[in-house]
Amino acid sequence: MRSELEKIRISVGLTEADTDVTARYRAIIMKVVPGVVDEFYAHMFSIGNDSYFRGVDVPSLKSRQIEHWRHLFRADFDDVYGNHATRIGIVHRDRAITPTVYMRSYGWFTSRLLEVLLARPDVSAADRPGLAAAVLKLIHLDMTIALAAYDAALVD
Ligand code: HEM
Repeated sequence: MRSELEKIRISVGLTEADTDVTARYRAIIMKVVPGVVDEFYAHMFSIGNDSYFRGVDVPSLKSRQIEHWRHLFRADFDDVYGNHATRIGIVHRDRAITPTVYMRSYGWFTSRLLEVLLARPDVSAADRPGLAAAVLKLIHLDMTIALAAYDAALVD
């Protein structure tokens, strides 16, 4: 798993400068994530995705999603992270959430997160481009792992 993660890290171009800027802003990122997660589920319900959440404890799901982002933004790609991200992909696959629906939702989340994060006065103007690029790379890494769980379905 670790070597697979290393391959993904290199292919998305995630560098030490990216992990450094993420580390400097991690606390601020995690301040804005809960609000964006709240908006995310409101958006899901507003676009008719309700049926996927039947019987699901949404407040608990929000907490689990927040923990997932906390884990990702630690930018420590060990086996614990890899297995965790893969398991999340499998949960969505098993819930019949198509890769298209899943990827669109990553798009919504990513753009809203950047919009809120980069508007903050405690993110310096000089750091904004680098921080935006680092967040994008990390989220693409995460999406790649989630999608790989769908590929695994082909050989199940
Ligand atoms: C940014 C994209 C998304 C992220 C980061 C995300 C994150 C998560 C996480 C962390 C879990 C918990 C997994 C576990 O506990 O093992 C989860 C479960 C789940 N997600 Fe997502 N999710 C995303 C998109 C979606 C979308 C688009 C839908 C539906 C349209 C969805 C529906 C669900 C459902 C139904 C569960 C299972 C809940 C349960 O059984 O308790 N997710 N998600």
